[in-house]
Amino acid sequence: MSEQKVLVIDSDEASCALIKTVLTARGFQVAVAMSARLGLQFYEENTPGVVFIDMSLKDLDVRYLVREFHHKDDAMAIILMSYAETANLVQESLALGATDYLYKPLKSEEVYFKTKQAFEIRRFVVNNSRSLKGIEERNISLQKQNLLLARRIEESTKNLTRLYEDLKETYMRTIKTLAHAIDARDHYTFSHSDNVTRYAELIARQMNVDAAYIADISDACQLHDLGKIGVHDNVLSKPSALTDEEFTQIKQHAEKGAQILEPLKFLEGVIDIVKHHHERWDGKGYPDGLKGEEIPLGARIMSVADSYDAMVSARPYRKVGLTKQEAVAEIKKNSGSQFDPKVVEAFLKVVESFA
Ligand SMILES: [Fe+2]
Repeated sequence: MSEQKVLVIDSDEASCALIKTVLTARGFQVAVAMSARLGLQFYEENTPGVVFIDMSLKDLDVRYLVREFHHKDDAMAIILMSYAETANLVQESLALGATDYLYKPLKSEEVYFKTKQAFEIRRFVVNNSRSLKGIEERNISLQKQNLLLARRIEESTKNLTRLYEDLKETYMRTIKTLAHAIDARDHYTFSHSDNVTRYAELIARQMNVDAAYIADISDACQLHDLGKIGVHDNVLSKPSALTDEEFTQIKQHAEKGAQILEPLKFLEGVIDIVKHHHERWDGKGYPDGLKGEEIPLGARIMSVADSYDAMVSARPYRKVGLTKQEAVAEIKKNSGSQFDPKVVEAFLKVVESFA
């Protein structure tokens, strides 16, 4: 135990004897070293809690000795001893971390008092460093828990994102199935929405539209006639000309489709395209009579793709669709009036690849 052990390093025999006598009588174990090197050696054997060091030791620099003891035990209490003329050295060594000092010639009571005080300081330092260590350990453990929590949150977020994506996909599948079912009522072919999607994608790519927006255009193409859900079969499949009232009913499908999709916030970009896919470049379309670039680009693209597929397909009022050449001529003719000329330009470049 360092608690009661004292080491005295002093070449002056009288001082050593005085300290040893005073402290031994008070229950301390005192080891004496007559040189600094011996002192360091004795430290290893005795591991004292308090060391007295005489400032006039010749074999090692006192400042080095103080540093060395603190290196071995950072709670070590060191009492320096000197005559008044070495006072500067005392200050310097205190600055280095010595605990206290004693002026020679030594006085018995002072030796005992300073020793007692030095052990108290040592206890204080030891306890403090223990608390500090405890705090550090708690900090480390808290950091570990934080890391663990962060990982769990990350995992939960990933799971939630996955669930959200699954949910989105399920929604989309359900809506697309519904849209296909509606499609089948209106068109002689089941593949109208798929054709429009394929054509619109090709045109959009030709126009260097970014991938995320192409995905929106594709979804919109799949869902564009969803609003026809409320239009009666008799009207959708009518082989003769529609009455004004019937035509008004049909025209509402763009807006109705957008309304059906409205609650699905992740379809924001898609809804806009669905709503405006019957607008015309010259402003004569519906539902809002938007003109030119007021119409979302996706809707302008879809308009060309949708019209082309409608032209080449059989219709209730037209058993055989137009030929590719006829349909292309029709699209060209309406460039700048019904259709965005730039979209038509892109369409003309890719139409050969349409199946
Ligand atoms: Fe439509």
